[in-house]
Amino acid sequence: MGYQNIIVEKKGRVGLITLNRPKALNALCDALVQELGQALNDFEGDAHIGAIVITGSEKAFAAGADIKEMKDRSFVDVYLSDFITKGWERVAQCRKPVIAAVAGYALGGGCELAMMCDVILAADTARFGQPEITLGVLPGAGGTQRLTRLVGKAKAMEMCLSGRMMDAAEAERSGLVSRVLPAEQLMDEAMKLADRIASMSAPAVLMVKESVNRAYETTLAEGLHFERRLFHAAFATEDQKEGMAAFVEKRQPDFKDR
Ligand code: CAA
Repeated sequence: MGYQNIIVEKKGRVGLITLNRPKALNALCDALVQELGQALNDFEGDAHIGAIVITGSEKAFAAGADIKEMKDRSFVDVYLSDFITKGWERVAQCRKPVIAAVAGYALGGGCELAMMCDVILAADTARFGQPEITLGVLPGAGGTQRLTRLVGKAKAMEMCLSGRMMDAAEAERSGLVSRVLPAEQLMDEAMKLADRIASMSAPAVLMVKESVNRAYETTLAEGLHFERRLFHAAFATEDQKEGMAAFVEKRQPDFKDR
């Protein structure tokens, strides 16, 4: 598929998606979201890809849903088409790990897109916010839900009610991002992390992702039970034998399922 709004590359075992609407600060128009879904489908179906990185430009990861595209839409239109949920959730449903490498603005749908990923690495230039309130609406792709779970009620409420942005340092302090990096190192570090994940046993990687995500959906007792069952299941893989044998033999593991 020829892409107009994103750049899709394979770098070894890592799938790299670069949002590419520079003139609109990577505003997430319908066509871009559709292309993003297609690229994720392709990477998900490619056994050689073990992890995915989504990034934007130096100035903007993404400045939100495309305001120009949605400003005249009616209630019936957005309701019937299930606007925002449809398409966008593809990112959250991806089974392979997805890293968001965020520099510059990650606002509205941009912040929500980053939060659908599994890890957010932020450049020191990153700014996160849910400014939908300033447009007379509210976040529509998980902002009030995922942000609240990640940074807690007080900060989520303040950001969604006022539109205030967080800088990278505050985002790291608050648990929204896993690490802040000098802007010039962001992509190197994101690719290094994705490479490392892609070098692990694929079943173990998918099980980790499933299990961590389960923590957001269930009680502690159920989550622990779920984790233990997956842990037991990992002993059915060749990679468990190889990983543990390699440790004992003081060598690097050679995982088969990756
Ligand atoms: N949609 C459409 N176009 C956008 C856009 C968006 N979300 N954000 C920026 N652009 C466009 C601007 O209209 C402008 O285009 P023109 O040159 O044709 O006028 C271009 O990108 C550059 O933007 P600015 O001139 O505004 O750049 P700036 O550096 O002065 O400001 C900014 C940067 C603070 C990010 C500002 O662009 C901004 O506030 N953008 C909107 C942020 C926002 O409100 N996002 C939420 C959208 S709603 C949403 O996302 C709903 C949801 O929950 C899914």
